[in-house]
Amino acid sequence: LKFVCFANDGVDEHMIWLVGLKNIFARQLPNMPKEYIVRLVMDRSHKSVMVIRNNQVVGGITYRPYISQKFGEIAFCAITADEQVKGYGTRLMNHLKQHARDVDHLTHFLTYADNNAVGYFIKQGFTKEIDLDKDRWQGYIKDYDGGILMECKIDPKLPYTD
Ligand code: ACO
Repeated sequence: LKFVCFANDGVDEHMIWLVGLKNIFARQLPNMPKEYIVRLVMDRSHKSVMVIRNNQVVGGITYRPYISQKFGEIAFCAITADEQVKGYGTRLMNHLKQHARDVDHLTHFLTYADNNAVGYFIKQGFTKEIDLDKDRWQGYIKDYDGGILMECKIDPKLPYTD
């Protein structure tokens, strides 16, 4: 099992994984238009953290780091159906936090969580209370009424992965 993180950089192997991740999102997030998923996953300003097993992608998180604002917006998060509830979702989120802090220098994440995923996000340290100053994120992330805005503060020192 390995965890990788990159944007659409044109590397063949990366493209194959990003297409696999896009297919997982399309299946696991049926309310999201497929064209919208493809556009964000392939967009060069978005990055994806992926769980890879036997050279195949089993899940991932696509996010947009707003480097100047020091926060990231999680666009999509999913694990393929037959691999859910095995702890991959938690490990994925921990890798995302580590990467976002150490590489992107972010302090927070925001996401519009689906109603049925709120429990998962709470277990990952997200809250419905938004502490981040509005002028740091307003106008950057778009309003979306299909979910609940949630925030996670990234610990400045905690080792999130081993
Ligand atoms: N509601 C409540 N709790 C949950 C949920 C849920 N939907 N999913 C997982 N959990 C809990 C688990 O029980 C576990 O709790 P525990 O630590 O007490 O045992 C903990 O969260 C972590 O579980 P993992 O096994 O690490 O989670 P998993 O690998 O299944 O990944 C995920 C979670 C990503 C939500 C997965 O179930 C999934 O792909 N679901 C369908 C797609 C989805 O809803 N994605 C999020 C949409 S919102 C967005 O994309 C911005």
